[in-house]
Amino acid sequence: MSAWSSVLAKYDVPVPRYTSYPTVPYWAEMPTADQWIQHLRQNLGPQKSWSMYIHIPFCETLCTFCGCNTIITRDHKNENSYVDLVKKEWALYQQKVPELQTSLFRHIHLGGGTPTFLSSESLRSLLEPIFSNVNRAQKNFEASVEVDPRRTSKEQLQTLHKIGFNRVSMGIQDFNPEVQKLVNRLQPFEITEALTHDARAMGYDSVNFDLIYGLAKQTEAGMEESVKQTLQLRPDRIALYSFALVPWIKPAQRLFKDEDLPKAEEKRKLYEVARGHLLAGGYVEVGMDHFALPTDNLARAMKQHELHRNFMGYTDQQTDVMLGLGVSSISETPDSFHQNEKLLPKYEAALATHQIPGLRGHVLSEEDKVRRQQILKLMTEYEVQFESPAQESAAKDFLHEMMGDGLVELSQGRMRVTDAGRPFLRNACLFFDERLKRNRPEARIFSQSI
Ligand SMILES: C[S@@+](CC[C@H](N)C(=O)[O-])C[C@H]1O[C@@H](n2cnc3c(N)ncnc32)[C@H](O)[C@@H]1O
Ligand code: SF4
Repeated sequence: MSAWSSVLAKYDVPVPRYTSYPTVPYWAEMPTADQWIQHLRQNLGPQKSWSMYIHIPFCETLCTFCGCNTIITRDHKNENSYVDLVKKEWALYQQKVPELQTSLFRHIHLGGGTPTFLSSESLRSLLEPIFSNVNRAQKNFEASVEVDPRRTSKEQLQTLHKIGFNRVSMGIQDFNPEVQKLVNRLQPFEITEALTHDARAMGYDSVNFDLIYGLAKQTEAGMEESVKQTLQLRPDRIALYSFALVPWIKPAQRLFKDEDLPKAEEKRKLYEVARGHLLAGGYVEVGMDHFALPTDNLARAMKQHELHRNFMGYTDQQTDVMLGLGVSSISETPDSFHQNEKLLPKYEAALATHQIPGLRGHVLSEEDKVRRQQILKLMTEYEVQFESPAQESAAKDFLHEMMGDGLVELSQGRMRVTDAGRPFLRNACLFFDERLKRNRPEARIFSQSI
């Protein structure tokens, strides 16, 4: 075994993705309905800003790698009733949180599932009332949507652009037909190519591609080819996700044969191959698993130390409050997290009695708030300041192996993840994860770090 492969083997352990702290399995104290509204109200107002996430869970077919919260159906007749439910939820918040009117609305993201499962008419019915009832930022307003190029028409893109959408994120995963077949997602290059051109011609400011490494049957040569095809279309941003294998949560992933899935070292090599071509193609690496053209806001935010991370991943838009609407959506304020019911009938039942459809949440303790900031700093800037000499000395103990392997450095009250340590950024975050350290999970919860 080479030195590098033994390092990979040592740190390829289950770790959270740290899109929040505490991570969802460690949420302990759900805010009461009144407390949740109170947290929203106290963090909004004339000098504050907010963003909205709307979850559209539907997809026509299941991609077998998928870890998202989806409802697979070809039946479109229920889409209007879902849109009505989300509008009902929005009306409830407008009534309970009048400060939403006076705060600056800076960002909306439509995610899924597949938001373009909704027809143009349904998209208009959902979004126009929202856009006409908020205090929308005049400068740098962002409206982004996740689309599946196989299921997105020019008309839908046009509708969204007219409403105010200026960013589009396309699911690609891999351009290789053999890999596509194995994950039940045949998506010819020409479809993506045409939609990318259409989005640009319509005036979308930014196009993002989602790619995944670590899927069944991916090879270095195949990955190189996929990245070359990506470079041909030159998206402004690229998310290069590590395949999160969580078959105990997503049974469709059991369909993959063990021997078809790249092991830690091969998987990391796939990332390195892709990364090398993207850097050579003029992209900048942003945080963990993201790349952007230097002209893109994400790259600028990274340079100006303004990069942020939330449930949607990396963003240059940090707002005081993020409000999630729709089934399973997560909201956050500086004081708490809140997630909606994941099951549609339960979400619907709560709204039928005019209640916020909360499933779980967490009120942050003072210690959580400090840890949350430290983990955020490390995930966005690869370095962070310790809060005390005692914390630094505890880090020396906890991270001595990572330091010995040249992955982490400690000096002058700061911790820095080295270039070699970047694949293990999440492992370094573990030091700050007091909740996980106090209560290590007995069952499998998180995907592997590589
Ligand atoms: C909601 S989907 C994107 C929009 C649309 N549904 C599509 O697939 O084109 C969000 C993204 O999550 C990523 N994703 C889903 N499951 C994943 C997994 N198990 N591991 C890593 N990334 C995953 C994919 O890259 C996918 O494009
Ligand atoms: S990857 Fe996208 S289209 Fe495929 S099942 Fe997941 S959410 Fe649906």
